[in-house]
Amino acid sequence: MKICCIGAGYVGGPTMAMIASKCPEVTVTVVDINAERIAGWNSGTLPIFEPGLEEMVALQRGKNLFFSTDVNDTIRDSDVIFISVNTPTKTYGVGAGRAADLRFVESCARQIAEVSDSDKIVVEKSTIPVRTAQSIKRILDASSHNGAKFQVLSNPEFLAEGTAMEDLEAPDRVLIGGETTEEGLAAVGKLVDLYAHWVPRERILTTNLWSSELSKLTANAFLAQRISSINSISALCEATGADVDEVAHAIGQDSRIGPKFLKSSVGFGGSCFQKDILNLVYLCEHFGLPEVANYWQQVVEMNDYQKRRFTQRMLDAMFNTVSHKRIAILGYAFKKDTNDTRESAAIYVCRDLLEEQAHLAIYDLKVPASEIYETLGVFEDDDRVEVCDNAYSAADGAHAVAILTEWDAFKNLDYTRIYNSMPKPAFLFDGRNLLDIPALQEIGFEASGIGK
Ligand code: NAD
Ligand code: UDX
Repeated sequence: MKICCIGAGYVGGPTMAMIASKCPEVTVTVVDINAERIAGWNSGTLPIFEPGLEEMVALQRGKNLFFSTDVNDTIRDSDVIFISVNTPTKTYGVGAGRAADLRFVESCARQIAEVSDSDKIVVEKSTIPVRTAQSIKRILDASSHNGAKFQVLSNPEFLAEGTAMEDLEAPDRVLIGGETTEEGLAAVGKLVDLYAHWVPRERILTTNLWSSELSKLTANAFLAQRISSINSISALCEATGADVDEVAHAIGQDSRIGPKFLKSSVGFGGSCFQKDILNLVYLCEHFGLPEVANYWQQVVEMNDYQKRRFTQRMLDAMFNTVSHKRIAILGYAFKKDTNDTRESAAIYVCRDLLEEQAHLAIYDLKVPASEIYETLGVFEDDDRVEVCDNAYSAADGAHAVAILTEWDAFKNLDYTRIYNSMPKPAFLFDGRNLLDIPALQEIGFEASGIGK
């Protein structure tokens, strides 16, 4: 079997590396229009960071895993084509700010139809609105020539960044949706067999196309909802003296609720949660379900509130002004163990602080300085933003330290040294509830966490 994956991003790269590693007899080629990204995949410095990814790519690349910009030839030469391109929130026209922008998916479908001269299985790996498979199928069938026939499958990806390789190695489930025709079932069977190389068959779920598509949006909405729920309670904890970690632990002991995804924070980020919920909201509106749309919209609004509330709390503590005060920002990625900053809460907090005329000294373990400047919309010589290469230099002379990403390394810093390098009173705002607040207070910090 020959596989082509269109889109060499956070999903395409790791997913295909895993397939190549588990299925040595299969040839996997990941293609992208972004030549720089492909060059990165073919170099010693991969374009994305995931623990374990570099090692796996090094083992497979050149054997049965390839990265190429030659989209047409790779499509023509493959039996199975995964579409793993970005599906961002639309920024223009009808549905702007909510609907998914499907132009990259559509252009893939057109290209596949254009160049294929044999039958293909086309797999939606990107997260898309329910019933997109129907549009893809129509485009494929309408623009196909050379007599090629297409089967469209939905196979959403559930990996989380930072743990992508673990998630891919031992997924909770693999979901495959397809048509219930004879050809549809045969195509589903082929994909099931591929995953069965390493995933126990009972974890490979097969459904109809629409259930598979909708399950992806629903899973992300439920996960994000848990975070917004506990974050809403964090505000009440701060008002009442309850401790949100204690509340989360207590409710998580209930086996019906469970302990995961109850970590209160400065807010969820990442490329998926907000985008997918907005997409769900838009779909509900489209299908005439305003009450359902409003229900899910609240999950995003609570997250926005949590990010704003964090900065407001900093201001309140710091005598209502941060103007010209140096503030150390520890962590800029949207979560630990990734270099991804998409929708990172840090971007929003930093922008709000810049509005208040603060001077920021930012340190992250993996995010390049150029990306920090770009996402904040400032030039590298702007003296309001300094990107530091370690936490101590960021904190040196700062009035406050704000922890915005849960990097493990921040747990083990010498906080006495940091405290001694700061003007007094020295503030510490733990946006990830990573640290022991009483211990920091013992050192002398005016320290607070979320919901504490
Ligand atoms: P990404 O932006 O990292 O990668 C997408 C890649 O597709 C880019 O490199 C882009 O250049 C390429 N591309 C776009 N149009 C193309 C075309 N016509 N031909 C060739 N290449 C093209 O995106 P991602 O984070 O990998 O996400 C991809 C999809 O997977 C999205 O739908 C996303 O919602 C979904 N998803 C993402 C995650 C995640 O953790 N990032 C998890 C699950 C699902
Ligand atoms: C998410 C889904 O988990 C994954 O299944 C899907 O395929 C893609 O979207 P991802 O965004 O990569 O994955 O990371 P995730 O671990 O879900 O974290 C998202 C955000 O929520 C991060 O900013 C994280 O810090 C935050 N978070 C997570 C919390 O604030 N509290 C928690 O308890 C868990």
